This record gives sequence, C-alpha cells and structure tokens, in this order.
Amino acid sequence: MISFIWAEDQNGLIGANGQLPWHLADDMKYFKQTTMGHPIVSGARTFRSYNRPLPGRENIVVSRQHDFPEGVVVVSSIADLNRLITANPGQNYFVTGGANLFSQLLTQVDRLYRTKIAHSFTGDTYMPTIDYTNFELVSSIDGVVNEQNPYPHVFEVFERN
Ligand SMILES: NC(=O)c1ccc[n+]([C@@H]2O[C@H](COP(=O)([O-])OP(=O)(O)OC[C@H]3O[C@@H](n4cnc5c(N)ncnc54)[C@H](OP(=O)(O)O)[C@@H]3O)[C@@H](O)[C@H]2O)c1
Repeated sequence: MISFIWAEDQNGLIGANGQLPWHLADDMKYFKQTTMGHPIVSGARTFRSYNRPLPGRENIVVSRQHDFPEGVVVVSSIADLNRLITANPGQNYFVTGGANLFSQLLTQVDRLYRTKIAHSFTGDTYMPTIDYTNFELVSSIDGVVNEQNPYPHVFEVFERN
C-alpha cells in the first residue's frame, strides 16, 4: 500500500527554496515515529534537501540521476516504483514528497497523513489538489504548541473510501 505523509500550511504550501518553509519540532518527531521501520519514497529534490538516508527505514529515491549516497535505492520511473511496491504487498510505502512526486501518485494513494499548520508562510511549492471526497478522516490529533512549536497544528489521517 501507499501512504502520503506531509505538512502543509493553511494555503497548502509545502516548500520554499527546496526546503520546508518552517521549523516545527513536533512534526519532525511525528514524521520520525510514523515512518520508522517502513520504506520511505522521496522525489530527488526532497531527498537532496537532507541528502542522507534516514536511519531505520529503507530509503527509496525516484530520480533519473544516480549520484545518491550509499544505502539509497534509486528507481528511475513510477513504473519501476510500482513494480517494487507490487512485489512487497505487506509493506506500507510512505511517500514523503515533494509536490512533483505526490502529483504522480495521487490516483494510487491509500492513506494520507496530513499535518495541517494554522499559519500562512511564504514559499514556492504547493501540495497538489486532493479530492477529499474520496477519503474519510479517521484520526485527528492536535499537536503541542510551545516555544519550539509556535504554530498550532493538527495531525490528521485519512483512509481512501
Ligand atoms: N512540507 C512537506 O511535508 C514537504 C514534503 C516533501 C517535500 N517538501 C518540499 O517540496 C519541495 C520539493 O518538491 P518538488 O515537487 O520540487 O520535487 P520532488 O517531488 O521532491 O522531486 C522532483 C524530482 O524527482 C524526480 N522525479 C519525479 N518524478 C519522477 C519520475 N516519474 N521518474 C524519474 N524521476 C522522477 C526528478 O528528479 P531528477 O531530475 O533527479 O530525475 C524530479 O525533478 C522542497 O521545497 C521540499 O522541502 C515539503
């Protein structure tokens, strides 16, 4: 199965200059605990924003290039990615973005892990439009707001109907 995991601001913004537009420690912690032990799939631009395999997870990068650090599995097309996913039916593949990769997998995704941040940031990359009538909200948990996490945010999970 395929899950998306991402954080967006109140306008659907997800990126700025190849990076996240915000620093939100609570969301980083949520990302880590949710994806730990599962394969993660990233577009090349997203992977290069941290440029090292994340520990405890199989790191798959979708790219036509091959110059990635050791420990990364590179797939060069969505067809190759789908072959990998089909060959491992028991796995939950977490697609971590960015917008380009999400948009190509919109029709296939089974579950959405969305962090919604109640703030407006500036940036250049937006989440592609998702038809939420195809999904049901199954969980919604408010994140912690404190000095390290100044923006109200909610962790939501949607399942495809
Ligand atoms: N807020 C969040 O949760 C979140 C999550 C993820 C990313 N982001 C942000 O989003 C931005 C990056 O997103 P993006 O949309 O620009 O890029 P992206 O989706 O991360 O990467 C796009 C690149 O992936 C490769 N690729 C995509 N589809 C492919 C295919 N079918 N076959 C082969 N290669 C393929 C290509 O790289 P090659 O040129 O190497 O082939 C393409 O240029 C950054 O600002 C990042 O910080 C935010």
